[in-house]
Amino acid sequence: MTERHMRTGVVGTGHVGLVTAVALASMGHEVVGMDSDQEKVAKLKDGQVPFFEPGLQDLLTKEMESGGLSFSSTSSEAVIGSEVVFISVATPTRSSGEANLVAVEDAAKDVAHHAEGSLVIVEKSTVPTGTAHRLRSTLRRERPDLADELEIVCNPEFLREGSALRDALEPERILIGAESERAFATMRRLYGPLVDRGCELIETDIATAELTKHASNAFLALKISFINAVARLCERAGADVDAVADGMGRDSRIGPAFLNAGLGYGGSCFPKDLAAFERLASRFGYQFPLLREVARINDEAVDACAEKVREALWNLENKRIALFGLAFKPGTDDVRFAPALTLARRLWSEGASVVGYDPVAGDNALQEFPEMEVVKDPYEAARDAHCIVLCTEWNEFAELDFERLKSELTYSIIVDGRNFFDAQRLEDLGFSYHPTGKPGF
Ligand SMILES: NC(=O)c1ccc[n+]([C@@H]2O[C@H](COP(=O)([O-])OP(=O)(O)OC[C@H]3O[C@@H](n4cnc5c(N)ncnc54)[C@H](O)[C@@H]3O)[C@@H](O)[C@H]2O)c1
Repeated sequence: MTERHMRTGVVGTGHVGLVTAVALASMGHEVVGMDSDQEKVAKLKDGQVPFFEPGLQDLLTKEMESGGLSFSSTSSEAVIGSEVVFISVATPTRSSGEANLVAVEDAAKDVAHHAEGSLVIVEKSTVPTGTAHRLRSTLRRERPDLADELEIVCNPEFLREGSALRDALEPERILIGAESERAFATMRRLYGPLVDRGCELIETDIATAELTKHASNAFLALKISFINAVARLCERAGADVDAVADGMGRDSRIGPAFLNAGLGYGGSCFPKDLAAFERLASRFGYQFPLLREVARINDEAVDACAEKVREALWNLENKRIALFGLAFKPGTDDVRFAPALTLARRLWSEGASVVGYDPVAGDNALQEFPEMEVVKDPYEAARDAHCIVLCTEWNEFAELDFERLKSELTYSIIVDGRNFFDAQRLEDLGFSYHPTGKPGF
């Protein structure tokens, strides 16, 4: 077994924590991942990744076999002997919009309880500005004997589900917010292998690091909502939103990323982070209504798609609608706040029967919305349906046999919620095609 550089604990082995743990192990550190979900830990101990993320299973197996990565359901194992412990538990939304930080507090108390001396505790979860301040008071109350030994660092995560491993191993930047040279030095050593490969490490104060994460997610959501609002306008003006986005995106001040009109954003981050950021601003006495507007336009994107289906089918009662793609985006089986499921609920509540297909997220979707039928094959989904709605642009949908789909469908109607299909091909085959933000036929 090769000697490992730094012993590191990761508390919360979900989408972020598990990727972080595997990535750190692959950098040569000795990592213990801890989670309070016993079932998850049992799977991990057995060498199984509990969710779909490309490449993660192979690297996890490799790192477990080489002895650099292990899992536990007790925090003592993640803390004792570690120089750094990451907290990467969930920070969901309260009904007020505020981030619910109970898991962060619980995890921090647990870590403090087992700490034996000098330890850097890293906020990896996305948290509102001011959380480190709260954590510090909590740690001091829990362990007055280690008041000067327990350091807080904010190291927000920018990975994207679907390419999480690449994002963790080749990040565009690593952001470290800390207060002491000792903490910065520890984090520089931890991320040394990535810095040596050319990755940029940015050092700031803690409040700046915390705020940068919320500001980044809010800005990305803003870009998506901006182009979706432009799509609504294009539909009324007879313009083509994809051509508009192309014309805008070639301006290097704007850039082409996140200018794809469609059903809008979902997932466990953008909706909750936007709400939390607005609440945070308001708590600091600054009103930021732009953020609420971004969320409103995002809701409108699903409304607009539902309206297209209604317009194409007339009455939804007794109609069967096939949704292609149920994950909140391609490359993941995560269906948290997936626009496809919001649309499914909407169409179902208006009397349609809804059948869905997704390459990997079918089971999760069925758990979230059991009223929907979920099938394992796109052609089965199309069978006797009156309309297909493309909700999530998985690459495999580019390879569909449209003649076969047409023969399965009751009506040859496609609503393209991601402007993914080749319009010319569908026209040649005699489909009625309804894209987003541009004229259909
Ligand atoms: N998912 C993403 O793409 C992404 C990207 C960047 C940042 N983030 C942020 O990272 C954080 C985690 O997100 P996620 O998607 O990994 O969530 P997740 O729900 O997938 O994972 C959270 C894990 O924490 C565990 N947990 C909860 N309380 C615990 C406790 N007290 N002790 C130990 N384990 C506990 C849960 O069992 C779960 O396995 C959130 O703040 C999120 O906003 C997520």
